[in-house]
Amino acid sequence: MTLDQRDFSYLSWMKDIVMAINDGVLVIDTEGIVRLINHEYTRITGVEEEAILGKYLKDVRKGAVLLNTLEDGKKRNGIYRKEGTEEYVVDMAPVYQYGEIVGAVSVCKSLNEVHVLARELESSKQKIAKLKSAVEDIYKATYSFDDIIGSDGALMETVNRTKKAARSSMNILIQGESGTGKELFAHSIHKESIRAEYPFVPVNCSAIPANLIESELFGYEEGAFTSSKSGGKMGLFELADRGTIFLDEIGELSMELQAKLLRVVQEGRVRKIGGLNEKEINVRVVSATNKNLNNMVEKGRFREDLFYRLNGIQITIPPLRKRKEDFSFLIQEMTNGLMPGKAPVFSEEVEQFLQEYEWPGNVRELYNVMNYAMNMADSGSIKMEHLPEFVQERKLHSKNGERSGTLKELLRETEQELIHDTLKEYENNLNGKKKAAATLGISLATLYNKIGNPSK
Ligand SMILES: Nc1ncnc2c1ncn2[C@@H]1O[C@H](COP(=O)(O)OP(=O)(O)OP(=O)(O)O)[C@@H](O)[C@H]1O
Ligand SMILES: [Mg+2]
Repeated sequence: MTLDQRDFSYLSWMKDIVMAINDGVLVIDTEGIVRLINHEYTRITGVEEEAILGKYLKDVRKGAVLLNTLEDGKKRNGIYRKEGTEEYVVDMAPVYQYGEIVGAVSVCKSLNEVHVLARELESSKQKIAKLKSAVEDIYKATYSFDDIIGSDGALMETVNRTKKAARSSMNILIQGESGTGKELFAHSIHKESIRAEYPFVPVNCSAIPANLIESELFGYEEGAFTSSKSGGKMGLFELADRGTIFLDEIGELSMELQAKLLRVVQEGRVRKIGGLNEKEINVRVVSATNKNLNNMVEKGRFREDLFYRLNGIQITIPPLRKRKEDFSFLIQEMTNGLMPGKAPVFSEEVEQFLQEYEWPGNVRELYNVMNYAMNMADSGSIKMEHLPEFVQERKLHSKNGERSGTLKELLRETEQELIHDTLKEYENNLNGKKKAAATLGISLATLYNKIGNPSK
């Protein structure tokens, strides 16, 4: 068959099809003459139609592999090419008509777009890895049982019991006065548990405003409310998945939130605010309070069903005044940490005071007092005048653990304690104060008077 006898009419209508294709296309006939190219071919290679159409491919594109395909009828795929800044891969195939090779086609795919996408993907991956490690850094337990100082039987017994509890899968409720180390214990529980490699997410239930706590704990979907962030927000429960959530000051949680928390703890599922679906989560709950939750349950101020869910194992940390054996050891460790190698010498009066004082702020208060005293006593010899003023004042009211003073003073002191203990059992807001006043059988005005001016 001669060239003239061959039917190239198909090229005329095929041209529209080829032009519509987003990859570069070049077609040659059996002689190796270029019959068709499309816009994308020109864009990728920079070769215009007039410079190539009707010409021998070998003359215009040196080393063109497409001529080999014409010769051997074999397909060739993924041949890499670079033209200036443009990188692309070429696939080649023979074209048949009536069982005979009538030409060959090459299809060029630009790699630039792929490169851009690959670079974007890589940078997104790096961002995700950075965020993940930032989350892991933020939500990490910092203390372990090794950081708990003590030599006292009561404390060490509590530590041993807590270690066993930590290794179980149960929820743990830690009770203890302010400054006894509840937070320290919570961190240690996480580190001792099989969840140690996963997040430890602390939540201070009294520090987050009541109107935000629900969205903080459970998260929200995009558009859940006018100020919601695009993409929504992950809740702390979800962040703690496979790890531990530490609900500190749990006694401050409103009844409404207690009900919502119960659902999550009971069912192991969270639903974001404004969300339709629930997500299964695997979280251990460690909670802590300096309130007497058992009493709060009895008085109807804490849901009994939630209490039982949280109180899988109850740990009560003894107050410092009940573990006097710990004193010298704790003081030794603390002062060594504050000024290594410079053990302070206490006057007899200070020694006696340290033993007799009630330490309402427990270990935290002891630490603060030691820190203050060591800074005040330049010589390292600590006398009464080196202790903070408020401690010296309190000492006047406490002697051998018993109260002293006139009847009026003692009554005033007892009244203040009673008021403060009652206030602690209610929320720290107007409603809480109203309830406390009702419990005490006094008016709200009288309560305010007595808090504001203790001498009344
Ligand atoms: N046994 C201990 N050994 C070493 N440090 C301790 C011990 N107990 C408490 N502390 C330290 O005392 C301080 C108070 O402890 P922590 O914050 O855990 O108390 P808390 O019970 O959570 O108090 P609050 O009820 O006021 O929140 C921290 O600096 C903590 O490291
Ligand atoms: Mg605490």
